[in-house]
Amino acid sequence: MKAQAVLSVFFTLIPPLCGSQDASFLASFNHLSMNEQIVTGRLGEDVILPCLFESGPDVVIHWKNQDTNVYSYYKDSDQLEKQDPRYVNRISLFHGEIHNGNASLFFRRLTLQDEGIYVCYVGTSLGKITKKVVLKVGAFVTPVMKYEKNTTNSFLICNVLSVFPYPIITWKVDNRPISENNGKEVGSLGPFHINSRVNITGSNSSYQCAIENPLLKQTWTGRWTMKDVLHKMESENVLLLCKPENSFFPPNQDFTVTWSRVESGSSLLLAYFKNSSQETLINQSRLSWKEELTNSRDFSLTLKDLRLSDSGEYLCSISSNESTSLTIQTLHVEASPRAPARIIVPVLVALVVAVLLLSVAPRAVRSKRCIGFRKERHPPTNQNSSSAGTTENVALSEYVPNTRSEDRSLQHNKNIRNIL
Ligand SMILES: *[C@@H]1O[C@H](CO)[C@@H](O)[C@H](O)[C@H]1NC(C)=O
Ligand SMILES: *[C@@H]1O[C@H](CO)[C@@H](O)[C@H](O)[C@H]1NC(C)=O
Ligand SMILES: *[C@@H]1O[C@H](CO)[C@@H](O)[C@H](O)[C@H]1NC(C)=O
Ligand SMILES: *[C@@H]1O[C@H](CO)[C@@H](O)[C@H](O)[C@H]1NC(C)=O
Ligand SMILES: *[C@@H]1O[C@H](CO)[C@@H](O)[C@H](O)[C@H]1NC(C)=O
Ligand SMILES: *[C@@H]1O[C@H](CO)[C@@H](O)[C@H](O)[C@H]1NC(C)=O
Ligand SMILES: *[C@@H]1O[C@H](CO)[C@@H](O)[C@H](O)[C@H]1NC(C)=O
Repeated sequence: MKAQAVLSVFFTLIPPLCGSQDASFLASFNHLSMNEQIVTGRLGEDVILPCLFESGPDVVIHWKNQDTNVYSYYKDSDQLEKQDPRYVNRISLFHGEIHNGNASLFFRRLTLQDEGIYVCYVGTSLGKITKKVVLKVGAFVTPVMKYEKNTTNSFLICNVLSVFPYPIITWKVDNRPISENNGKEVGSLGPFHINSRVNITGSNSSYQCAIENPLLKQTWTGRWTMKDVLHKMESENVLLLCKPENSFFPPNQDFTVTWSRVESGSSLLLAYFKNSSQETLINQSRLSWKEELTNSRDFSLTLKDLRLSDSGEYLCSISSNESTSLTIQTLHVEASPRAPARIIVPVLVALVVAVLLLSVAPRAVRSKRCIGFRKERHPPTNQNSSSAGTTENVALSEYVPNTRSEDRSLQHNKNIRNIL
């Protein structure tokens, strides 16, 4: 029973599906039979929709998109009274070429709504032709790769401001693909604005994101790597490395190099180089490029006279319209004793030691003497204390007679001297 019910649903669904498939099949067959051409344009740019015919007298040209009038020409002039408003001032024929059999349409400032099937009808006293041109519009503003961090995480964002159709986004970590992470998109119909982000979990790893527009056959790649940590002492100089592999740049490509310092939640521009204009900028007097940048492929920076506050992450970014390469370098500046201190401190230490020795030495001699006397006078104190009951009394009695015994010994010494 259940199976039958399912089947009947299935069969009732099938006929309309088959019908629509047949219809679309026929339609595409028709396209082919009418000498269809596909033209791909870029959003906001211009394009030519081609239409050639065998030239003859009394030329009549009509361009249509579905049933809307795109352009008409007859009696040797444009006939634009019926032109659809959305094409006004954006379309023209090559008037000088019409007598050569060229009825191509020059289409300016494309929008995504211009996508469609355009049909060119041309009649002359010699005959008639019909041609179809399928216009597709793509968009691909050069993406950017951003490195950001907050107090707990570091992450990479690949961002495209405007892309159409929806692109293919792939992330790789150490050349192994990972699943795309919550690609956030804005714009439901397009063009799309996409933010795709991943967390950086292994700072030793290299990250890569590729964004491909299959329609425009264009792929942009962003790469991220982190170099070994640099340890330096205060007031030393450091060379922050940024030297891309030679294979990185296709020849004759314009590129921009920027150096910045990445802090939690922000990034500060330090230096800048634009290869097309040879424009350079250095934000700080302690910074300089390692070498002359004309025709150079080394964008390393020297930072002089390091301070403790220079510790942090430095980001070198090289961007062309095909790729971005980010290199992170972490710098640790450690405190070092200042040059004058290196002399003063040992001298001070020596002085303190000397003073201590001078003050301690005589006391040591004196106390040694005291011990000597006590030992000398031990038998008499023992005699005195033998009568005492508690140890406390012993100690007290030991002390009191000792001083006396010292006096006595002095007396004794005097007596000896007197004798001598
Ligand atoms: C028609 O003329 C235009 C303007 O000279 C030219 O760009 C185009 O290539 C010609 N031919 C076709 C097939 O469009
Ligand atoms: C840091 O960024 C991550 C990822 O976006 C987020 O989950 C986390 O809450 C952020 N932490 C702070 C302290 O802002
Ligand atoms: C990155 O990590 C944070 C927390 O550590 C998490 O909230 C966030 O969802 C992660 N983002 C991605 C894209 O994995
Ligand atoms: C990082 O990479 C270097 C060289 O590739 C390797 O020697 C080191 O062990 C790695 N460190 C970690 C934490 O993976
Ligand atoms: C920019 O670099 C490319 C690639 O090396 C080079 O062909 C081009 O001439 C450079 N532009 C300038 C203005 O130097
Ligand atoms: C990329 O730049 C090159 C020259 O700098 C240019 O010829 C090319 O058209 C650009 N590509 C895109 C997609 O903008
Ligand atoms: C240069 O650095 C200073 C701080 O050192 C900053 O205020 C300024 O905005 C930076 N300039 C640029 C162009 O980023």
